[in-house]
Amino acid sequence: MQIVTVEKLSKKSKILSPDQILDSFKRTKISSDWSFEGFSPSQTSKLTHCYHRYPAKFIPQLVEKLMDDYLVGYGHFHVNDLFMGSGTTLACAIARGYFASGTDINYNAELITKVKCTPIEPFLLKNKITKFFNGLSFLEDSSLFYSNKHKPYIPKTNLERIEYWFESEAIEELGIILRRINNEKDENIRLFLKCCFSHILKTCSRWLMSSTKPTIDKDKKPTKPLIAFKKHIKRMMRGNDAFWNTVPESVKHNINKYLTIKRQDARRQPVDDNSVDIQITSSPYVTSYEYADLHQLTTIWLEPGVDLKEYKKEFIGTSAKSNGTRVLKSQIGKDIVGELQKVDMKMADEVEAFFVDMQECFNETHRILKGGGRCCYVIGNTKLRGVEILNAEVFVESMQYSRFEIDRIIKREIPSKILPTNRDAKTGRFAANGDADSFAYPTEYIVIGRKI
Ligand SMILES: C[S@@+](CC[C@H](N)C(=O)[O-])C[C@H]1O[C@@H](n2cnc3c(N)ncnc32)[C@H](O)[C@@H]1O
Repeated sequence: MQIVTVEKLSKKSKILSPDQILDSFKRTKISSDWSFEGFSPSQTSKLTHCYHRYPAKFIPQLVEKLMDDYLVGYGHFHVNDLFMGSGTTLACAIARGYFASGTDINYNAELITKVKCTPIEPFLLKNKITKFFNGLSFLEDSSLFYSNKHKPYIPKTNLERIEYWFESEAIEELGIILRRINNEKDENIRLFLKCCFSHILKTCSRWLMSSTKPTIDKDKKPTKPLIAFKKHIKRMMRGNDAFWNTVPESVKHNINKYLTIKRQDARRQPVDDNSVDIQITSSPYVTSYEYADLHQLTTIWLEPGVDLKEYKKEFIGTSAKSNGTRVLKSQIGKDIVGELQKVDMKMADEVEAFFVDMQECFNETHRILKGGGRCCYVIGNTKLRGVEILNAEVFVESMQYSRFEIDRIIKREIPSKILPTNRDAKTGRFAANGDADSFAYPTEYIVIGRKI
Protein backbone atom coordinates (compact mmCIF):
# COMPACT_ATOMS: atom_id res chain seq x y z
CA MET A 1 0.00 0.00 0.00
CA GLN A 2 1.25 3.45 -0.80
CA ILE A 3 1.10 6.80 0.93
CA VAL A 4 -2.21 8.27 2.01
CA THR A 5 -3.32 11.60 0.66
CA VAL A 6 -6.45 12.94 -0.82
CA GLU A 7 -5.70 15.84 -3.07
CA LYS A 8 -7.97 18.74 -2.28
CA LEU A 9 -7.29 21.44 -4.81
CA SER A 10 -6.44 24.96 -3.79
CA LYS A 11 -9.54 27.13 -3.53
CA LYS A 12 -7.63 29.95 -5.28
CA SER A 13 -7.01 28.04 -8.50
CA LYS A 14 -10.70 27.87 -9.47
CA ILE A 15 -10.05 27.22 -13.16
CA LEU A 16 -7.11 24.99 -13.87
CA SER A 17 -5.13 25.23 -17.10
CA PRO A 18 -4.29 21.96 -18.91
CA ASP A 19 -0.73 22.14 -17.49
CA GLN A 20 -2.02 22.71 -13.96
CA ILE A 21 -4.36 19.73 -14.36
CA LEU A 22 -1.55 17.47 -15.55
CA ASP A 23 0.59 18.70 -12.68
CA SER A 24 -2.14 18.15 -10.04
CA PHE A 25 -2.50 14.57 -11.18
CA LYS A 26 1.24 14.00 -10.97
CA ARG A 27 1.16 15.25 -7.39
CA THR A 28 -1.85 13.16 -6.35
CA LYS A 29 -0.84 10.20 -4.23
CA ILE A 30 -2.81 7.03 -3.67
CA SER A 31 -5.23 7.29 -0.78
CA SER A 32 -5.57 4.00 1.07
CA ASP A 33 -8.77 5.35 2.70
CA TRP A 34 -10.47 4.74 -0.61
CA SER A 35 -9.26 1.23 -1.47
CA PHE A 36 -11.65 -0.50 1.00
CA GLU A 37 -9.22 -3.35 1.06
CA GLY A 38 -10.26 -4.69 4.45
CA PHE A 39 -13.88 -5.31 3.46
CA SER A 40 -14.93 -8.96 3.09
CA PRO A 41 -16.98 -10.23 0.11
CA SER A 42 -20.01 -10.53 2.40
CA GLN A 43 -19.68 -6.83 3.21
CA THR A 44 -19.18 -5.73 -0.38
CA SER A 45 -22.13 -7.87 -1.50
CA LYS A 46 -24.43 -6.97 1.40
CA LEU A 47 -28.14 -6.21 0.98
CA THR A 48 -29.16 -6.44 -2.65
CA HIS A 49 -25.62 -5.94 -3.96
CA CYS A 50 -25.32 -9.75 -4.31
CA TYR A 51 -28.10 -9.99 -6.91
CA HIS A 52 -26.14 -9.83 -10.13
CA ARG A 53 -22.52 -9.71 -11.27
CA TYR A 54 -21.65 -6.72 -13.44
CA PRO A 55 -18.42 -5.61 -15.11
CA ALA A 56 -16.70 -2.76 -13.26
CA LYS A 57 -19.36 -2.79 -10.57
CA PHE A 58 -18.88 -0.38 -7.64
CA ILE A 59 -18.58 -1.64 -4.14
CA PRO A 60 -21.27 -0.04 -1.96
CA GLN A 61 -18.66 1.23 0.51
CA LEU A 62 -17.28 3.65 -2.07
CA VAL A 63 -20.71 5.14 -2.72
CA GLU A 64 -21.48 5.32 1.01
CA LYS A 65 -18.25 7.15 1.76
CA LEU A 66 -18.96 9.76 -0.90
CA MET A 67 -22.50 10.21 0.44
CA ASP A 68 -21.08 10.53 3.99
CA ASP A 69 -18.63 13.20 2.83
CA TYR A 70 -21.11 15.33 0.90
CA LEU A 71 -24.65 14.74 2.16
CA VAL A 72 -24.49 16.18 5.61
CA GLY A 73 -27.34 15.92 8.13
CA TYR A 74 -30.81 14.59 7.42
CA GLY A 75 -32.68 15.49 4.32
CA HIS A 76 -34.59 14.27 1.33
CA PHE A 77 -31.39 14.11 -0.68
CA HIS A 78 -31.49 13.18 -4.35
CA VAL A 79 -28.71 10.95 -5.69
CA ASN A 80 -28.22 10.36 -9.41
CA ASP A 81 -26.16 7.97 -11.53
CA LEU A 82 -26.33 8.52 -15.27
CA PHE A 83 -24.42 5.26 -15.97
CA MET A 84 -26.19 3.26 -13.29
CA GLY A 85 -25.02 -0.21 -14.46
CA SER A 86 -26.11 -2.69 -11.81
CA GLY A 87 -27.53 0.15 -9.71
CA THR A 88 -25.03 0.20 -6.84
CA THR A 89 -25.33 3.96 -6.34
CA LEU A 90 -29.11 3.92 -6.50
CA ALA A 91 -29.50 0.96 -4.14
CA CYS A 92 -27.20 2.69 -1.61
CA ALA A 93 -29.31 5.84 -1.87
CA ILE A 94 -32.62 3.97 -1.44
CA ALA A 95 -31.18 2.09 1.56
CA ARG A 96 -30.73 5.49 3.23
CA GLY A 97 -34.15 6.75 2.25
CA TYR A 98 -32.95 9.20 -0.40
CA PHE A 99 -34.43 9.87 -3.83
CA ALA A 100 -32.55 7.96 -6.51
CA SER A 101 -32.50 8.46 -10.26
CA GLY A 102 -30.50 7.32 -13.23
CA THR A 103 -30.18 5.85 -16.67
CA ASP A 104 -28.34 3.17 -18.54
CA ILE A 105 -28.50 2.20 -22.17
CA ASN A 106 -28.27 -1.48 -21.26
CA TYR A 107 -31.56 -3.40 -20.85
CA ASN A 108 -29.94 -5.67 -18.31
CA ALA A 109 -28.84 -2.69 -16.21
CA GLU A 110 -32.42 -1.42 -16.08
CA LEU A 111 -33.67 -4.82 -14.90
CA ILE A 112 -30.96 -5.30 -12.25
CA THR A 113 -31.27 -1.76 -10.89
CA LYS A 114 -35.06 -1.93 -10.65
CA VAL A 115 -34.89 -5.21 -8.75
CA LYS A 116 -31.99 -4.18 -6.51
CA CYS A 117 -33.80 -1.00 -5.48
CA THR A 118 -37.24 -2.52 -4.87
CA PRO A 119 -37.64 -4.12 -1.44
CA ILE A 120 -40.30 -6.88 -1.39
CA GLU A 121 -42.24 -7.84 1.71
CA PRO A 122 -40.34 -11.02 2.78
CA PHE A 123 -43.40 -13.24 3.56
CA LEU A 124 -45.00 -12.43 0.24
CA LEU A 125 -41.74 -13.21 -1.52
CA LYS A 126 -41.29 -16.50 0.33
CA ASN A 127 -44.80 -17.66 -0.54
CA LYS A 128 -44.44 -16.69 -4.17
CA ILE A 129 -41.07 -18.45 -4.49
CA THR A 130 -42.41 -21.62 -2.83
CA LYS A 131 -45.33 -21.70 -5.28
CA PHE A 132 -42.97 -20.99 -8.14
CA PHE A 133 -40.83 -24.02 -7.36
CA ASN A 134 -43.87 -26.22 -6.67
CA GLY A 135 -44.93 -25.51 -10.22
CA LEU A 136 -41.54 -26.71 -11.44
CA SER A 137 -41.34 -29.90 -9.34
CA PHE A 138 -41.82 -32.03 -12.46
CA LEU A 139 -38.33 -30.96 -13.53
CA GLU A 140 -36.90 -32.84 -10.57
CA ASP A 141 -39.10 -35.91 -10.94
CA SER A 142 -38.57 -37.66 -14.25
CA SER A 143 -41.79 -39.69 -13.75
CA LEU A 144 -43.82 -36.52 -14.20
CA PHE A 145 -44.37 -35.15 -17.67
CA TYR A 146 -44.91 -31.54 -18.42
CA SER A 147 -48.04 -30.43 -20.10
CA ASN A 148 -48.50 -27.86 -22.82
CA LYS A 149 -48.79 -25.07 -20.29
CA HIS A 150 -45.15 -25.72 -19.30
CA LYS A 151 -43.90 -25.68 -22.85
CA PRO A 152 -40.47 -24.04 -22.85
CA TYR A 153 -40.31 -20.44 -23.96
CA ILE A 154 -37.25 -20.25 -26.21
CA PRO A 155 -36.86 -17.04 -28.25
CA LYS A 156 -36.93 -18.38 -31.82
CA THR A 157 -35.15 -15.35 -33.32
CA ASN A 158 -32.03 -16.09 -31.27
CA LEU A 159 -32.06 -19.87 -31.43
CA GLU A 160 -28.75 -20.10 -33.25
CA ARG A 161 -26.97 -18.02 -30.64
CA ILE A 162 -28.71 -19.77 -27.77
CA GLU A 163 -27.52 -23.10 -29.19
CA TYR A 164 -24.01 -21.72 -29.45
CA TRP A 165 -23.90 -20.94 -25.74
CA PHE A 166 -26.09 -23.63 -24.16
CA GLU A 167 -26.47 -27.39 -24.32
CA SER A 168 -29.85 -28.67 -25.51
CA GLU A 169 -31.01 -29.95 -22.09
CA ALA A 170 -30.16 -26.62 -20.48
CA ILE A 171 -32.06 -24.74 -23.22
CA GLU A 172 -35.17 -26.82 -22.55
CA GLU A 173 -34.95 -26.34 -18.78
CA LEU A 174 -34.20 -22.62 -19.01
CA GLY A 175 -37.12 -22.25 -21.41
CA ILE A 176 -39.46 -23.95 -18.93
CA ILE A 177 -38.26 -21.75 -16.07
CA LEU A 178 -38.66 -18.65 -18.22
CA ARG A 179 -42.19 -19.62 -19.28
CA ARG A 180 -43.12 -19.90 -15.61
CA ILE A 181 -41.48 -16.57 -14.80
CA ASN A 182 -43.42 -14.87 -17.61
CA ASN A 183 -46.66 -16.28 -16.19
CA GLU A 184 -46.11 -14.54 -12.83
CA LYS A 185 -48.65 -11.71 -12.52
CA ASP A 186 -47.00 -9.64 -9.77
CA GLU A 187 -44.52 -7.39 -11.57
CA ASN A 188 -42.03 -7.05 -8.73
CA ILE A 189 -41.90 -10.80 -8.23
CA ARG A 190 -41.61 -11.42 -11.97
CA LEU A 191 -38.68 -9.01 -12.26
CA PHE A 192 -37.03 -10.50 -9.17
CA LEU A 193 -37.21 -13.95 -10.82
CA LYS A 194 -35.96 -12.54 -14.13
CA CYS A 195 -32.98 -10.97 -12.40
CA CYS A 196 -32.12 -14.37 -10.90
CA PHE A 197 -32.60 -16.01 -14.30
CA SER A 198 -30.28 -13.47 -15.92
CA HIS A 199 -27.59 -13.98 -13.27
CA ILE A 200 -27.45 -17.78 -13.62
CA LEU A 201 -27.17 -17.78 -17.42
CA LYS A 202 -23.38 -17.57 -17.28
CA THR A 203 -23.12 -20.53 -14.86
CA CYS A 204 -25.46 -22.64 -17.00
CA SER A 205 -23.76 -21.87 -20.31
CA ARG A 206 -20.44 -22.72 -21.95
CA TRP A 207 -19.14 -19.22 -21.14
CA LEU A 208 -15.74 -19.29 -19.42
CA MET A 209 -16.52 -18.35 -15.81
CA SER A 210 -13.29 -16.41 -15.23
CA SER A 211 -13.85 -14.24 -18.30
CA THR A 212 -15.99 -11.13 -18.56
CA LYS A 213 -15.68 -11.32 -22.33
CA PRO A 214 -17.61 -13.87 -24.41
CA THR A 215 -15.26 -16.85 -24.40
CA ILE A 216 -16.19 -20.53 -24.73
CA ASP A 217 -14.84 -22.93 -22.10
CA LYS A 218 -14.56 -26.26 -23.89
CA ASP A 219 -14.04 -28.20 -20.65
CA LYS A 220 -16.87 -26.61 -18.69
CA LYS A 221 -19.63 -28.69 -17.13
CA PRO A 222 -22.41 -26.10 -16.82
CA THR A 223 -24.61 -26.24 -13.72
CA LYS A 224 -28.17 -27.52 -14.22
CA PRO A 225 -30.43 -24.43 -14.51
CA LEU A 226 -32.89 -25.38 -11.76
CA ILE A 227 -30.08 -26.09 -9.29
CA ALA A 228 -28.34 -22.79 -10.08
CA PHE A 229 -31.65 -20.93 -9.96
CA LYS A 230 -32.62 -22.34 -6.55
CA LYS A 231 -29.23 -21.60 -5.05
CA HIS A 232 -29.13 -18.02 -6.28
CA ILE A 233 -32.73 -17.19 -5.42
CA LYS A 234 -32.04 -18.17 -1.80
CA ARG A 235 -29.14 -15.73 -1.73
CA MET A 236 -31.30 -13.02 -3.25
CA MET A 237 -34.04 -13.66 -0.69
CA ARG A 238 -31.57 -13.17 2.16
CA GLY A 239 -30.45 -9.95 0.49
CA ASN A 240 -34.05 -8.81 0.16
CA ASP A 241 -34.73 -9.54 3.85
CA ALA A 242 -31.79 -7.38 4.90
CA PHE A 243 -32.75 -4.62 2.43
CA TRP A 244 -36.37 -4.67 3.62
CA ASN A 245 -35.16 -4.17 7.19
CA THR A 246 -32.86 -1.32 6.14
CA VAL A 247 -35.00 0.83 3.85
CA PRO A 248 -37.09 3.38 5.79
CA GLU A 249 -40.84 2.55 6.00
CA SER A 250 -41.95 5.62 4.05
CA VAL A 251 -39.66 4.71 1.17
CA LYS A 252 -40.35 1.00 0.89
CA HIS A 253 -44.08 1.57 0.58
CA ASN A 254 -43.66 4.35 -2.01
CA ILE A 255 -40.74 3.11 -4.01
CA ASN A 256 -42.02 4.55 -7.30
CA LYS A 257 -41.93 8.01 -5.77
CA TYR A 258 -38.31 7.59 -4.69
CA LEU A 259 -36.89 5.71 -7.65
CA THR A 260 -36.77 7.13 -11.21
CA ILE A 261 -34.87 5.06 -13.73
CA LYS A 262 -34.95 4.80 -17.49
CA ARG A 263 -33.23 2.77 -20.15
CA GLN A 264 -31.97 5.66 -22.16
CA ASP A 265 -28.89 7.63 -23.06
CA ALA A 266 -26.95 9.25 -20.23
CA ARG A 267 -27.24 12.64 -21.91
CA ARG A 268 -30.96 12.72 -21.14
CA GLN A 269 -31.69 12.32 -17.44
CA PRO A 270 -35.31 11.77 -16.38
CA VAL A 271 -35.12 14.56 -13.79
CA ASP A 272 -35.67 18.32 -13.54
CA ASP A 273 -33.05 21.04 -13.74
CA ASN A 274 -31.27 21.84 -10.43
CA SER A 275 -32.85 18.91 -8.59
CA VAL A 276 -29.97 16.56 -7.72
CA ASP A 277 -27.71 16.85 -4.64
CA ILE A 278 -24.97 14.49 -5.76
CA GLN A 279 -24.11 12.33 -8.71
CA ILE A 280 -21.96 9.26 -8.12
CA THR A 281 -21.06 7.39 -11.25
CA SER A 282 -18.48 5.48 -13.23
CA SER A 283 -18.46 6.01 -16.94
CA PRO A 284 -17.84 3.36 -19.57
CA TYR A 285 -14.21 2.94 -20.58
CA VAL A 286 -13.13 3.79 -24.07
CA THR A 287 -12.79 0.82 -26.48
CA SER A 288 -12.44 -1.62 -23.62
CA TYR A 289 -15.61 -3.46 -22.80
CA GLU A 290 -18.23 -3.91 -25.48
CA TYR A 291 -21.02 -3.89 -22.91
CA ALA A 292 -23.57 -5.12 -25.44
CA ASP A 293 -21.45 -8.25 -26.03
CA LEU A 294 -20.80 -8.85 -22.36
CA HIS A 295 -24.50 -8.99 -21.57
CA GLN A 296 -25.48 -11.00 -24.62
CA LEU A 297 -26.65 -14.09 -22.69
CA THR A 298 -29.32 -11.99 -21.02
CA THR A 299 -30.14 -10.12 -24.22
CA ILE A 300 -30.71 -13.28 -26.28
CA TRP A 301 -33.07 -14.74 -23.68
CA LEU A 302 -34.82 -11.71 -22.26
CA GLU A 303 -34.66 -9.09 -25.04
CA PRO A 304 -35.15 -11.17 -28.19
CA GLY A 305 -36.23 -8.19 -30.30
CA VAL A 306 -32.93 -6.34 -29.92
CA ASP A 307 -30.74 -5.94 -33.01
CA LEU A 308 -27.33 -6.37 -31.39
CA LYS A 309 -25.47 -4.55 -34.17
CA GLU A 310 -27.59 -1.40 -33.86
CA TYR A 311 -27.78 -1.71 -30.06
CA LYS A 312 -23.97 -1.60 -29.77
CA LYS A 313 -23.86 1.83 -31.41
CA GLU A 314 -25.85 3.34 -28.56
CA PHE A 315 -23.08 2.62 -26.05
CA ILE A 316 -20.56 5.32 -25.18
CA GLY A 317 -16.97 4.10 -25.57
CA THR A 318 -17.88 1.50 -28.19
CA SER A 319 -15.80 0.82 -31.26
CA ALA A 320 -19.01 0.26 -33.24
CA LYS A 321 -19.68 3.94 -33.56
CA SER A 322 -18.72 6.54 -36.10
CA ASN A 323 -19.71 9.99 -35.02
CA GLY A 324 -18.97 12.17 -38.06
CA THR A 325 -18.03 15.74 -37.28
CA ARG A 326 -17.52 16.65 -33.66
CA VAL A 327 -15.80 19.33 -31.61
CA LEU A 328 -13.55 18.26 -28.79
CA LYS A 329 -12.89 21.08 -26.34
CA SER A 330 -10.29 19.53 -24.04
CA GLN A 331 -6.71 20.42 -25.04
CA ILE A 332 -5.39 17.39 -23.14
CA GLY A 333 -7.87 15.27 -25.09
CA LYS A 334 -6.82 16.81 -28.41
CA ASP A 335 -3.15 16.07 -27.67
CA ILE A 336 -3.97 12.44 -26.87
CA VAL A 337 -6.01 12.07 -30.06
CA GLY A 338 -3.14 13.69 -32.03
CA GLU A 339 -0.63 11.19 -30.63
CA LEU A 340 -2.96 8.28 -31.40
CA GLN A 341 -3.51 9.47 -34.96
CA LYS A 342 0.19 8.86 -35.62
CA VAL A 343 -0.23 5.15 -34.87
CA ASP A 344 -3.89 4.19 -35.34
CA MET A 345 -6.42 6.47 -37.02
CA LYS A 346 -9.42 4.31 -36.13
CA MET A 347 -8.54 4.13 -32.47
CA ALA A 348 -7.88 7.89 -32.44
CA ASP A 349 -11.37 8.38 -33.82
CA GLU A 350 -12.94 6.14 -31.17
CA VAL A 351 -11.13 7.92 -28.36
CA GLU A 352 -12.16 11.32 -29.70
CA ALA A 353 -15.80 10.16 -29.94
CA PHE A 354 -15.61 8.97 -26.33
CA PHE A 355 -14.22 12.29 -25.06
CA VAL A 356 -16.88 14.27 -26.96
CA ASP A 357 -19.69 12.02 -25.69
CA MET A 358 -18.42 12.47 -22.14
CA GLN A 359 -18.23 16.25 -22.63
CA GLU A 360 -21.96 16.15 -23.39
CA CYS A 361 -22.57 14.04 -20.27
CA PHE A 362 -20.91 16.70 -18.09
CA ASN A 363 -23.30 19.30 -19.57
CA GLU A 364 -26.26 17.12 -18.60
CA THR A 365 -24.77 16.58 -15.15
CA HIS A 366 -24.55 20.36 -14.74
CA ARG A 367 -28.17 20.82 -15.79
CA ILE A 368 -29.56 18.45 -13.15
CA LEU A 369 -27.34 19.29 -10.15
CA LYS A 370 -28.30 21.90 -7.60
CA GLY A 371 -25.87 24.83 -7.21
CA GLY A 372 -22.96 23.63 -5.06
CA GLY A 373 -23.90 20.00 -5.77
CA ARG A 374 -21.12 17.53 -6.50
CA CYS A 375 -20.53 15.15 -9.35
CA CYS A 376 -18.21 12.25 -8.59
CA TYR A 377 -16.88 10.40 -11.63
CA VAL A 378 -14.86 7.24 -11.10
CA ILE A 379 -12.50 6.66 -14.02
CA GLY A 380 -9.20 4.93 -14.79
CA ASN A 381 -6.38 5.89 -17.12
CA THR A 382 -4.77 3.48 -19.53
CA LYS A 383 -2.40 3.07 -22.45
CA LEU A 384 -3.46 2.32 -26.02
CA ARG A 385 -0.93 1.68 -28.77
CA GLY A 386 1.77 3.05 -26.51
CA VAL A 387 -0.14 6.33 -25.95
CA GLU A 388 -1.17 7.31 -22.42
CA ILE A 389 -4.94 7.81 -22.38
CA LEU A 390 -5.40 10.27 -19.53
CA ASN A 391 -9.15 9.88 -19.17
CA ALA A 392 -9.24 11.41 -15.69
CA GLU A 393 -7.28 14.49 -16.74
CA VAL A 394 -9.55 14.96 -19.78
CA PHE A 395 -12.61 14.58 -17.52
CA VAL A 396 -11.35 17.31 -15.20
CA GLU A 397 -10.68 19.70 -18.07
CA SER A 398 -14.04 18.92 -19.69
CA MET A 399 -15.91 19.35 -16.41
CA GLN A 400 -14.54 22.88 -16.22
CA TYR A 401 -15.96 23.60 -19.68
CA SER A 402 -19.30 22.45 -18.29
CA ARG A 403 -19.03 25.05 -15.52
CA PHE A 404 -17.75 22.86 -12.71
CA GLU A 405 -15.01 23.84 -10.31
CA ILE A 406 -12.76 20.91 -9.42
CA ASP A 407 -13.23 20.06 -5.78
CA ARG A 408 -11.12 16.98 -5.29
CA ILE A 409 -9.09 14.35 -7.09
CA ILE A 410 -8.82 11.04 -5.30
CA LYS A 411 -6.49 8.30 -6.48
CA ARG A 412 -7.39 4.82 -5.32
CA GLU A 413 -6.22 1.27 -5.81
CA ILE A 414 -8.80 -1.12 -7.22
CA PRO A 415 -9.30 -4.15 -5.07
CA SER A 416 -11.98 -5.62 -7.36
CA LYS A 417 -10.92 -8.75 -9.17
CA ILE A 418 -13.47 -8.14 -11.91
CA LEU A 419 -11.39 -5.37 -13.42
CA PRO A 420 -8.76 -6.85 -15.68
CA THR A 421 -5.30 -5.39 -15.48
CA ASN A 422 -3.94 -5.98 -18.94
CA ARG A 423 -4.68 -4.90 -22.46
CA ASP A 424 -3.82 -6.53 -25.70
CA ALA A 425 -1.18 -4.30 -27.34
CA LYS A 426 -2.65 -4.68 -30.85
CA THR A 427 -6.34 -4.20 -30.20
CA GLY A 428 -6.19 -2.20 -26.99
CA ARG A 429 -8.94 -4.39 -25.56
CA PHE A 430 -8.80 -5.95 -22.12
CA ALA A 431 -7.10 -9.34 -22.21
CA ALA A 432 -6.63 -12.25 -19.87
CA ASN A 433 -3.69 -11.74 -17.51
CA GLY A 434 -0.56 -13.07 -19.11
CA ASP A 435 -1.88 -12.65 -22.67
CA ALA A 436 -1.29 -8.95 -22.76
CA ASP A 437 1.65 -6.67 -22.62
CA SER A 438 0.27 -3.45 -21.28
CA PHE A 439 -0.98 -2.63 -17.84
CA ALA A 440 -4.42 -1.04 -17.42
CA TYR A 441 -6.35 0.31 -14.43
CA PRO A 442 -4.21 -0.80 -11.51
CA THR A 443 -5.46 2.41 -9.92
CA GLU A 444 -8.30 4.73 -10.74
CA TYR A 445 -9.45 8.22 -9.89
CA ILE A 446 -12.53 9.76 -8.40
CA VAL A 447 -12.76 13.22 -9.88
CA ILE A 448 -15.18 15.46 -8.04
CA GLY A 449 -16.62 18.63 -9.50
CA ARG A 450 -18.71 21.27 -7.76
CA LYS A 451 -21.41 23.03 -9.71
CA ILE A 452 -20.79 26.77 -9.83
C1 LIG B 1 -18.69 1.20 -15.50
S1 LIG B 1 -20.34 0.74 -15.86
C2 LIG B 1 -21.24 1.30 -14.46
C3 LIG B 1 -21.19 0.31 -13.33
C4 LIG B 1 -21.93 0.77 -12.10
N1 LIG B 1 -21.23 1.83 -11.39
C5 LIG B 1 -22.22 -0.40 -11.15
O1 LIG B 1 -21.93 -0.29 -9.95
O2 LIG B 1 -22.71 -1.42 -11.61
C6 LIG B 1 -20.76 1.88 -17.12
C7 LIG B 1 -22.16 1.76 -17.66
O3 LIG B 1 -22.34 2.73 -18.68
C8 LIG B 1 -23.38 2.24 -19.51
N2 LIG B 1 -23.46 3.01 -20.76
C9 LIG B 1 -22.69 2.95 -21.86
N3 LIG B 1 -23.11 3.82 -22.78
C10 LIG B 1 -24.18 4.47 -22.26
C11 LIG B 1 -25.04 5.52 -22.74
N4 LIG B 1 -24.92 6.00 -23.96
N5 LIG B 1 -25.99 5.97 -21.91
C12 LIG B 1 -26.17 5.43 -20.67
N6 LIG B 1 -25.41 4.44 -20.18
C13 LIG B 1 -24.41 3.96 -20.97
C14 LIG B 1 -23.01 0.77 -19.69
O4 LIG B 1 -24.12 0.02 -20.10
C15 LIG B 1 -22.54 0.42 -18.28
O5 LIG B 1 -23.58 -0.14 -17.55
